[in-house]
Amino acid sequence: MTANIKTPIPGPNSQKYKALSEKYESHCLGYQAPIVWDHARGVTVWDVDGNSFIDWTSGVLVTNVGHSHPKLAKAIGEQAARLLNCYDFPTVERVTLAERMVKLSPENLDNAFFATVGSEAVDSAVRVAKRHTGNFEMISFFGGFHGRTMGTMSLAGKMATKKKFGPIMPGMIYVPFPDQYRNPFGSDSADVAGQCLEFMDNAVNAQSTGSLAGLIIEPYQGAAGFIFPPDGFLKSLEEWCRARGIVFILDEVQSSFGRTGKFLALEWENLRPNMVSIGKGIGSGMPISCLLAESQIMKSLDVGDMSSTWGGNPLCCAASHAILDIFEEEKLVENALALGEHMKTRLTAMKDKCAYLGDVRGRGLVMGLDIVKDKKTKERYPEMTRNIINKCCENGLIIGAVSGNVIRVAPPLVITKEEADESLDIMEKVLTGM
Ligand SMILES: Cc1ncc(COP(=O)(O)O)c(C=O)c1O
Repeated sequence: MTANIKTPIPGPNSQKYKALSEKYESHCLGYQAPIVWDHARGVTVWDVDGNSFIDWTSGVLVTNVGHSHPKLAKAIGEQAARLLNCYDFPTVERVTLAERMVKLSPENLDNAFFATVGSEAVDSAVRVAKRHTGNFEMISFFGGFHGRTMGTMSLAGKMATKKKFGPIMPGMIYVPFPDQYRNPFGSDSADVAGQCLEFMDNAVNAQSTGSLAGLIIEPYQGAAGFIFPPDGFLKSLEEWCRARGIVFILDEVQSSFGRTGKFLALEWENLRPNMVSIGKGIGSGMPISCLLAESQIMKSLDVGDMSSTWGGNPLCCAASHAILDIFEEEKLVENALALGEHMKTRLTAMKDKCAYLGDVRGRGLVMGLDIVKDKKTKERYPEMTRNIINKCCENGLIIGAVSGNVIRVAPPLVITKEEADESLDIMEKVLTGM
């Protein structure tokens, strides 16, 4: 057994450090189960009281190769002793990582620009789209999340990200996302993707001043509740953008590095975006992100127009090389696909046994469990969701939630069938006991 709970939760040490956190840290961080992490390995997390848990969060979909993978830790240690930072000077680590990333991408994406966090990669994409087109308007989606900088916050179709932080970047046009569970056009509309495309045409006709630069979308909306669009929708957007000569940006900060059961989520529909932002799994715990782009678009920037103090630093690049090696050696994309299918089958079967589990959705090792008060009205149930988070923790499973009521199922991609089944048993026990 991986999970082993030896103390009441929270244990005495967790209580002590949580009290320090409450006294000295800002309260703006997200709600978490009441434990303090000590160390972690693979899918197992130990708290400061020696309790062990199975992790369904991967941090926040970050540690795709598993927590503190020994090969990754070794690569970081060796590189730290050699060279940490040299700003924009090329290094072997950076240029060979650029080559590797380009070779793993569709043939039109032939340039890589490294940054530090996902928001920075997205900000960079918007900057390039504006320079390339000479325009400034951006289309993004209701519920979308692209980061926390002022620029990426402006792209967000979520009030929670931008509430009272305005004014936002001028030129934003927001359009509905084809949510198949909570249909934005009402429950009886069948062709939600078609309606969203029609709405977008109307919104652009009514709101654009004729200065459209680009459109940005996530392959699935993570922060909005793991909402996957109907097949074909993203391809239609790509064609829509191409027909208008605007830049199509796919935000794969969360969905890349095997999360959906493909190395890049764009592979599911053979998409050809002009730019792709990548984050989280590329560093599996180290702060690195990447903008993959067409060189003909990147050429619109001059020397010195875009760089970053820590962007593509040798330490993080060495880490990403180790991560790519681990992906190949341990076949993590294939594991995500196979274990994802297994977990989804078992979770879907739990729907009939739990009055609050309204929907199970997702692909690969990223799924959402939508907790509702009533399966007919689909009213969100955040209070119950918190109870489930706490009860799972007491039983040895760490989970988190987005949008208040959608439980995130996103274990590290190294999870085994035994670990998956043990964690699913805990979830089933909690859900059926509520
Ligand atoms: C789709 C997407 N884009 C951008 C970001 C922002 O990344 P970061 O928090 O690393 O800046 C996130 C983070 O959750 C994300 O999920």
